[in-house]
Amino acid sequence: MQTDAIEQIKDKIDIVELVRQYVPGLKRAGKLYKACCPFHHEKTPSFTCSSEKGLYYCFGCQEGGNIFNFVMKMENLTFREALEKLAAMAGVELEPAKLLSAEEQRRATTRKVLDWARAYYHKNLLSRAGDHARTYVKSRNLTKETCEQFELGLSLGPGALVQAAKQAGYTEENLKDAGLCVQTERGLREYFRNRLMFPIWNPRGETVGFGGRILGEGEPKYLNSPETILFTKSHVLYGLNFAGPVIRKVDRAVLLEGYMDVIGCHQAGVAYTVAPLGTSLTEEHAKLLKRYTQNVVVLFDPDEAGLKAALRGALILTQAGLFVKVASLPDGLDPDEYIAKYGKESFENILNHAQELIAFATARQLARHTAPLSAQAKTNIVTELTQIIAQQPDGIVRREWVKYVAEALNIDEPLVQQRLAQTLRANTQSTRFAPAHKPGVVRADPTVSLPSAEEDLLAWILKSPQHTVLCAQLSAQDFSSPALWEIFQAIVKTHMQYPQADNLTEQTAQALPAQRNEIVKLALLPTPDDFDPARDIAACAAKLEQTGLQRQLQKLTQQMKSYGTGNVPPDVFQTYMQLQQKLKKYRG
Ligand code: UTP
Ligand code: MN
Repeated sequence: MQTDAIEQIKDKIDIVELVRQYVPGLKRAGKLYKACCPFHHEKTPSFTCSSEKGLYYCFGCQEGGNIFNFVMKMENLTFREALEKLAAMAGVELEPAKLLSAEEQRRATTRKVLDWARAYYHKNLLSRAGDHARTYVKSRNLTKETCEQFELGLSLGPGALVQAAKQAGYTEENLKDAGLCVQTERGLREYFRNRLMFPIWNPRGETVGFGGRILGEGEPKYLNSPETILFTKSHVLYGLNFAGPVIRKVDRAVLLEGYMDVIGCHQAGVAYTVAPLGTSLTEEHAKLLKRYTQNVVVLFDPDEAGLKAALRGALILTQAGLFVKVASLPDGLDPDEYIAKYGKESFENILNHAQELIAFATARQLARHTAPLSAQAKTNIVTELTQIIAQQPDGIVRREWVKYVAEALNIDEPLVQQRLAQTLRANTQSTRFAPAHKPGVVRADPTVSLPSAEEDLLAWILKSPQHTVLCAQLSAQDFSSPALWEIFQAIVKTHMQYPQADNLTEQTAQALPAQRNEIVKLALLPTPDDFDPARDIAACAAKLEQTGLQRQLQKLTQQMKSYGTGNVPPDVFQTYMQLQQKLKKYRG
């Protein structure tokens, strides 16, 4: 690692100056600087930046880090690329790039193989051997320019790719790493044969895999590359490399179902469209889209399977904080067919009339029941719909949705509100006590913006680590989430390891990279005006201990009840007494 160079660069580049180059609206707010976040769309600034600490954090999208993380994210760079860029800006000399690790070498080679294969398939399509495939492409209304832009290609019969690859100097191992070949009992076998090839790019425009369509009828219609070190299917949106800048500009994205839909729409001038690779929508897809816009329209097939998938996908996007609408096309046409037949304007008109998720879900429920609705039917429908409202993280939108449902079903609004409150309560309880609680991630609750006592404590010991001794009594039970306990331990351990470090936040983030965002957020939390580290940390630790003990006591009391009078095992009772004893000092 170029530790010296990295430190020098950090000293020379003021994060506020750097960020301002990308975010001109950055304004001073007390000790910090604030602006609307460049990584997601927002109207009120929640992106903060501290010159003194060299860190940034967005309270809206929970992204944070130092100058390197900022440029990596902003410009889609690797760490090495960001390092080189910032070194040049700071006038710091770097040691020449170290030899790549075996893993990095494999990635680099795989990239090269995929680039080579993309060009190879494309050349096939343009060659004599591609006559029939070009005819097929034409029959699907695609122009030559579109073919070039999406670099469509053609895979040939068995052996063709392997032979060409070997001539180009690649090994069988290389081809397997790239997901282009698989080893079978009868030897190496090409994954794609006689298929129309669609290169799949990541947002940076690097080829990470391929989709292949059968020419004409047959099964399976589409094949996707198997997952490789460069390719995770559920993390990719097809077309995003082209659509990204357009999505930012028009501030909306449209999710379609397939390769041909995306290509057809781009060709017709609706270039803010993308599609997952035949998988259902994931949180990763949502995160990816959020970098470009908050507004998403999901376009779906109007059959039962399509409706279900649209609802599921829309919910996932909603949970991630996106504003989702849904729409479908008439006449059972796919988007590429529709736009070719009726044109861009008609297509965009349908998008503009897309339904809000709650309206869509309500209509779907109403269609399942006969009018007039019985009281029983209304109850059932409200139950279903409040489940959906509960997934909406934005409190204001939630209220609107409650109103909508109340009006649509002709029920008093407070009744719907009440049912929603029940649902929300039931949901938090089931997640709070769920054993499958993911310890790796702190789930930020967007409705709660004030830091909890736990977060205060962590923020304060990051500022005054010499006072961690005042928290010696704390244990895992005193933290409401394993992730916060994990961060606490990491801070204490890092401080012990580097007692003199002036960058404890960064060292801790390095020791626990999965929690980088949360740790950076803590470091940027403001301290009270009259902050007295010794007094405040001790008081906060005491409060956490008290809450922790009460939590344990409550659980134990429940447990004792379930044993019934006289049947409580002695050790359980002993623990109970100990907890009571410890709690005594808090009972004044
Ligand atoms: P569709 O079956 O809707 O096909 O699959 P399509 O996109 O309309 O394709 P054309 O118009 O007949 O050429 C939608 C998407 O689902 C995935 C592909 O990503 C496809 O684009 N899919 C479909 C598969 O992965 N495998 C299949 O066998 C079929
Ligand atoms: Mn289609």
